[in-house]
Order: sequence, then structure tokens, then C-alpha cells
Amino acid sequence: MKTRLFLTAALALWGLSAQADPAPGDAARGAEVFKAQCAACHLAKATDKSPPIGPQLLGVVGRKAGSWDHFGYTPAMKKAGFTWDPKLLDKYLENPYAVVPGAAMGLLVPSPSHRADVIAYLSTNPDLLRQPERPAP
Ligand code: HEC
Repeated sequence: MKTRLFLTAALALWGLSAQADPAPGDAARGAEVFKAQCAACHLAKATDKSPPIGPQLLGVVGRKAGSWDHFGYTPAMKKAGFTWDPKLLDKYLENPYAVVPGAAMGLLVPSPSHRADVIAYLSTNPDLLRQPERPAP
């Protein structure tokens, strides 16, 4: 009986935290988070160079998941079917596998403020204004 009460309370708390809106982030701090936690695998710059391990993240906010042409995504990411927005990114960075089961990204960002900061950075990346023209297919 006690266990059941505890479980109910835990689930209620979990539900609350899952619904809370992330606090607004700081893009300048987010650039530092990106350098420290994402840049080993991702680029978010206007360049033709291939990112080291993961897809290019320039313009990822508002882009369809798994749709950057030059990266071999997992089938799970390719058929995710949604468009990245700050809320989904927050959930994904907290736990990629909860949002895209089968995704191949081995990084979690447990700190809500780091997540909010890096999402603010990706949303207002100054390089968005300098995207190189894509070569015609
Ligand atoms: C260890 C390497 C690695 C690190 C570190 C990493 N990622 Fe990734 N990321 C990947 C890989 C690989 C994928 C592609 C996943 C797939 O295809 O399932 C990916 C995919 C993504 C996607 C989906 C992109 C798309 O085009 O749909 C986002 C968004 C993302 N990462 C954000 C981040 C952020 C923000 C950080 C830093 C906080 C980060 N990643 C750190 C390897 C990494």
C-alpha cells in the first residue's frame, strides 16, 4: 500500500516536471555549452566542411528531424517525422532515446539551464545569416 502511494506521488511529480516549460536560456552561455558538450560531434557554423560525427546543427530549430542531406542518420531518426522546436530539443537533450527510440546520440544534458542555454544559442545562431548557398542538386 505504501509502495503504491509512493509510486503515485512519484508519477504525479514526474508528470508535473515533464510539463513545465523550460526557462528561457542565454545564447552566449549556450555557445560555451555547445563548445564544451556538442562540438566534438557537431558543427553549427556556415561551412561546407562535414561535421566530425553528427549532423550539422546550423538551422536545426525549425528543421525536420533527420533531414540534413549529408549525414547518414539512423533509420529511427530518419522516420521521426517531426520538426525540431525548443520543447522537443529540450526533451531530446535530456534523454534522446525517450524522444527518438533507437537514436544514436550518446550524450545526455542533465542540467535544465545548460539545455535552455544551448537551445537559445541554436535558435539565434549568428551564422544563420551567413549560410552558404547549397549547390544545385
Ligand atoms: C558523441 C557524439 C555527439 C555529441 C557529443 C552530441 N551529439 Fe547530437 N547527434 C549525434 C549523432 C550521431 C546524431 C544522429 C543521431 C541519429 O541519426 O540517430 C545526433 C543528432 C542530433 C540532433 C538531431 C539533428 C537532426 O538533424 O535531426 C540534434 C538536435 C543534436 N544531435 C543536438 C546535440 C546537442 C545540442 C549536443 C550538445 C549538447 C549534442 N547533440 C551532442 C552525436 C552527438
